[in-house]
Amino acid sequence: MPQRLSDAGPICYKVGMRALCSAMASLLLVCSLGSSCSSEPAEPASGATLFGQQCAMCHMRDGSGGALGPTLHGKQQYWTRASLVAYLKDPVGVAKQDPRLVAQGAKYSQAMPTYKMLPESALERLADHVLALP
Ligand code: HEC
Repeated sequence: MPQRLSDAGPICYKVGMRALCSAMASLLLVCSLGSSCSSEPAEPASGATLFGQQCAMCHMRDGSGGALGPTLHGKQQYWTRASLVAYLKDPVGVAKQDPRLVAQGAKYSQAMPTYKMLPESALERLADHVLALP
């Protein structure tokens, strides 16, 4: 595999696709370092990574919100780590108890989805990420 990588170098230069080639090279590196090339990462994904994968489509990558979800900036006053984990498991149920969320939820066409399928530790990392937003 290393030989193939170094062989790829000059070709990448020639066709002017260095970005693509380096992306392929890092993919190959990840596969060769891991025991297998499955999608299961060796290290648990960080809160920021999980947020990018699960939440950014509605709340934007920086959490500033958009057409599909409110800003998550400055929400520390409303949440603790534990209450956020509970919210992520049952957002609609929790929102029903909270007039602020009921009013806010009415502005969006889709409800906040549940993340009860994620492991507790991932929900905690997501909660910490939200609490660390500006
Ligand atoms: C399909 C779009 C969508 C996705 C995906 C989504 N949300 Fe939401 N989220 C919403 C909407 C809409 C609301 C407003 C609900 C309400 O106010 O009742 C909301 C509300 C919230 C709130 C409460 C905000 C407040 O004002 O206190 C938090 C916290 C939150 N989302 C976190 C997350 C996290 C973390 C993820 C990813 C694990 C996520 N959301 C994924 C749409 C989404």
